[in-house]
Amino acid sequence: MTAATKIEVAANSSARLFQDMWGIYRKVVDYNYLNHREAYAALREVLRHQRPGFTFLDIACGDASFSAAALAGLPAGRYIGIDLSQPALDDAAANIAALPCPSELRHGNFVEWLSACEASVDVAWIGLSLHHLPFERKLEAMQHLRRLVGPSGTLLVYENTRRTSESRAGWMKRWDRQRKHFSAFSGLEWLLLTTHVHSMDYPETASDWQELGHQAGFARMREHYRSTFDLFRLFSFSA
Ligand SMILES: C[S@@+](CC[C@H](N)C(=O)[O-])C[C@H]1O[C@@H](n2cnc3c(N)ncnc32)[C@H](O)[C@@H]1O
Repeated sequence: MTAATKIEVAANSSARLFQDMWGIYRKVVDYNYLNHREAYAALREVLRHQRPGFTFLDIACGDASFSAAALAGLPAGRYIGIDLSQPALDDAAANIAALPCPSELRHGNFVEWLSACEASVDVAWIGLSLHHLPFERKLEAMQHLRRLVGPSGTLLVYENTRRTSESRAGWMKRWDRQRKHFSAFSGLEWLLLTTHVHSMDYPETASDWQELGHQAGFARMREHYRSTFDLFRLFSFSA
């Protein structure tokens, strides 16, 4: 299997998983197990300082429920969301309906979409989706995003992050210790979720994220939020 085919298979199995497991993911979000509330509050804080009419790109938007809440009452000029999962996009359509700006939802693989995208955006946001890609593919996506946000826009990511010198296996060990906190989860729900995490997730260290930003053409990276158990961090990148 070539590297490109492997990535294609990974993206497709990720999409299938989220189509099959959307209920489990909603439960993760509803119980705030991945600190969506705090991460999206930090995103909203950045959005509050955007100029009126800003364009917001929501990569792998899922059902866009938290993005819509983060944008509520702010003077966005355009919302663009993309996701592989049609059921998630169906929910997203309802969740973004109240936004006071034109919005569009794209059904597709963001990796392919970004390479062809000509849109110019002020804020690009990736919530918990870039970590499925290995370093080189993350870089490719971030290079495209640097092109889309241009010299004055911002890329924000909330993603799995390893501690300094921590291996992927070390991060997974810390992830596995979360089991006791997922008290609303049945054994099967936890097993399905954690199997996905072990097979699909590729966390980077903060210095890897810095290097990715640098190689993609961003001069500055800033950490805005670190999740309760330091498994996920929110970074912004700007030129
Ligand atoms: C963990 S959820 C995150 C959803 C939302 N961004 C959030 O913060 O809750 C991951 C989402 O990424 C989507 N996804 C995964 N790989 C994708 C890809 N290559 N292209 C588009 N969407 C993808 C899944 O369908 C799913 O909706």
